[in-house]
Amino acid sequence: MLIFIENILSKDEVKQFRTHLETATWESGLKTAGSLARAAKQNMQLDDTTDLALSLRNHILRKLGNHPLFISVALPSKIYPPKFNCYQDGGSYGSHIDSALMPVPGTNVTVRGDLSATLFLSEPNEYEGGELEIESSHGNQSIKLPAGNMVLYSSGSEHRVKPVIAGARYASFFWVESYIRDEKQREILFDLDQSIQNLTSKVGNDDKHLLKLTGIYHNLLRSWATT
Ligand code: NI
Repeated sequence: MLIFIENILSKDEVKQFRTHLETATWESGLKTAGSLARAAKQNMQLDDTTDLALSLRNHILRKLGNHPLFISVALPSKIYPPKFNCYQDGGSYGSHIDSALMPVPGTNVTVRGDLSATLFLSEPNEYEGGELEIESSHGNQSIKLPAGNMVLYSSGSEHRVKPVIAGARYASFFWVESYIRDEKQREILFDLDQSIQNLTSKVGNDDKHLLKLTGIYHNLLRSWATT
């Protein structure tokens, strides 16, 4: 499953993020690479313990919480606090699969990575290279989105970031644990929810068949969800 979500951040918000990020202190991304990924990772990351990182990630979490498409597609139960990275000077991240279980520092919460997210904070014309390549059953997808837009993909997919050979690529990234662990079940619920929403705008809220479909959605969610 590969889902693109536009305008998680507005262009004005991206501008504010960038002003902060471009003057922040960055550290080597190796510090937080899991054992699966360590050898492959060449980038810079923002220190998560700073007030700046805290304020930027809370801003993103607020936007996600109010985003109907994100909620519908991810059915999130937990979100790993968003992190920030920067690739430049040939920086890249070789092929890897994200770790399955991620303890959130300073808490007793562990997030199971069902979905991985990259929120682009640089425009495609600001850097060369830096495509996020994701392997899927439909072949290799090469992704480079406008700033403020996000891609969500299955955390079980092999992926990589191609070397950034000019400019700088800023992004935020995080993982989502979904109430629906099974990807196929999540897709069925997403399709059903989208159809219900489309029908609602055509036939109105009180159509009895629509009420029945909405009930079916919730009954499927009830039998499949894990909390
Ligand atoms: Ni990754």
